[in-house]
Amino acid sequence: MIDFINQLPKTELHLHIEGTLEPETMFRLAKRNGIELPYTTVEQIREDYNFSDLQSFLDIYYKGAAVLIEEEDFYELTKEYLEKAHQDNVKHVEIFFDPQTHTQRGIPFKKVVEGIHRALEEARGNYGLTSRLIMCFLKHLSEEEAIETLKEALPYKEWIFGVGWDSTELGNPPQKFKKVCDMALSEGFITVNHAGEEGPAQYIWDSIKELHIRRVDHGVRSIDDELLLEYLRRSRIPLTVCPLSNIKLCVFSDMKEHVIKKLLNKGLCVTVNSDDPAYFGGYINRNFIEIWKALDLSKEEIAQLAKNSFEASFLSIEKKQQYYNEIDTQLEGIESASMLG
Ligand code: ADE
Ligand code: ZN
Repeated sequence: MIDFINQLPKTELHLHIEGTLEPETMFRLAKRNGIELPYTTVEQIREDYNFSDLQSFLDIYYKGAAVLIEEEDFYELTKEYLEKAHQDNVKHVEIFFDPQTHTQRGIPFKKVVEGIHRALEEARGNYGLTSRLIMCFLKHLSEEEAIETLKEALPYKEWIFGVGWDSTELGNPPQKFKKVCDMALSEGFITVNHAGEEGPAQYIWDSIKELHIRRVDHGVRSIDDELLLEYLRRSRIPLTVCPLSNIKLCVFSDMKEHVIKKLLNKGLCVTVNSDDPAYFGGYINRNFIEIWKALDLSKEEIAQLAKNSFEASFLSIEKKQQYYNEIDTQLEGIESASMLG
């Protein structure tokens, strides 16, 4: 099964580039940029990654991002992630970046976006790994600050496919960002939103109604609302679920308690993603492996999750069909091999 998972073509649709900052890279960049870290070893950093909820993670995560200063830093960070994604047989990525985490520290928007974009273009050339970039606004900041950030992004519109919202969910309902959302939509950006991670199912409804989202990031609390489940099933609005993240942030107490299999079997377009893999203990294939082990998923269910990842992406219909066929071929290969004994 592990080989099957590793070899399946897949997309990653919920990945914060700042969340791929491995402790080794953190040290290297801190040294290069003359920044002092409150740690002396990589092991010490990893020991600090014990979170009790989303906020306890975010506090550490924003501190880590302070080592990112130059365009080259954003380029290297992105390049390192894309190498790992390529090893995991990821064919397409839709990456989040949080410009406000950097512009608030005085780092120009230009350096952030140019570094990330350069690495994305290089991976397209080197591996045929395609990508889209999604700019996230931080929910704990004001709508006015989000509007300022949207304005800064306009010169880079060609490089940014959509906008999303991340950071503290509780206390920051979707309605807070209605105006900036309408502005982004009128500029031609698509929208997605982190909703129903720690917040209630109502925040998923509100994201659909008020922010016109095309995907729900996380969305696991949809399990509490039968009407919403039915709406998500019929509309096929995808959920970008992040299993290891949910365990590390105590959304579920154990992987055996995770609802991804239930959501899949109810017919929702659920996908598997890694969120902030440097902080949560694994990249996309590790997420697949952990849910397979804990929830006893079949090969057909794993294949369906990989197909959903293409369906949920912003790739063309033709590309999606090509990958569905590849996944079917791999599944049939496994089935005929097992029949032969
Ligand atoms: N920013 C990075 N990871 C996040 C998550 N899981 N939820 C909300 N904001 C985030
Ligand atoms: Zn996230």
